[in-house]
Amino acid sequence: MNIVLIGFRGTGKTAVGKSLAQRLGRQFIDADEYLEEKTGKSIAQIFAEGGEAAFREMEREIISGLSRRDGIILAAGGGAVLDERNVKNLKKNGVIFLLEADADTIQRRLASDEKTDSQRPPLTDKSFREEIRSLLKFRRPYYEAAADHTINTSELGREEVAEKILDHLPQ
Ligand code: S3P
Repeated sequence: MNIVLIGFRGTGKTAVGKSLAQRLGRQFIDADEYLEEKTGKSIAQIFAEGGEAAFREMEREIISGLSRRDGIILAAGGGAVLDERNVKNLKKNGVIFLLEADADTIQRRLASDEKTDSQRPPLTDKSFREEIRSLLKFRRPYYEAAADHTINTSELGREEVAEKILDHLPQ
């Protein structure tokens, strides 16, 4: 069984995934980093060359492949669960944890994360602030439908979130 982390950009999927991997002695894979390694291109580059559609197609292939593994901790990109094929694949062999945070916290975390420029190209024509708020609203039902468990990370550090996830896992 895999442990799958989903949620909006900046909700802590990668940080929490790494902490969980260390605690459980399991492998952590960030689907975005994996995709970048496989293609030799940054996500920003993929968007610039083929648009979001090209990225989503690659993301689907990567998730399909990673879902066939067992025992990994997998962080899916923030938009992955908008495609029901990804949700189906991730659910086959995974328990899905949704990490949430409020818009201000997300905005603050993204602004101070050095990966934002290369891994998080704009998804709309809106301002950074407005994009976060409108996509959070649009995506909420997708995230909630995909999740087995939900954890709000706004007030928690990565280790505290990891502990909450461990509480939900069968002993
Ligand atoms: C995306 C989130 C990013 C990355 C890509 C698209 C999104 O992943 O997959 O920039 O649509 O929300 P993170 O959630 O890891 O930032």
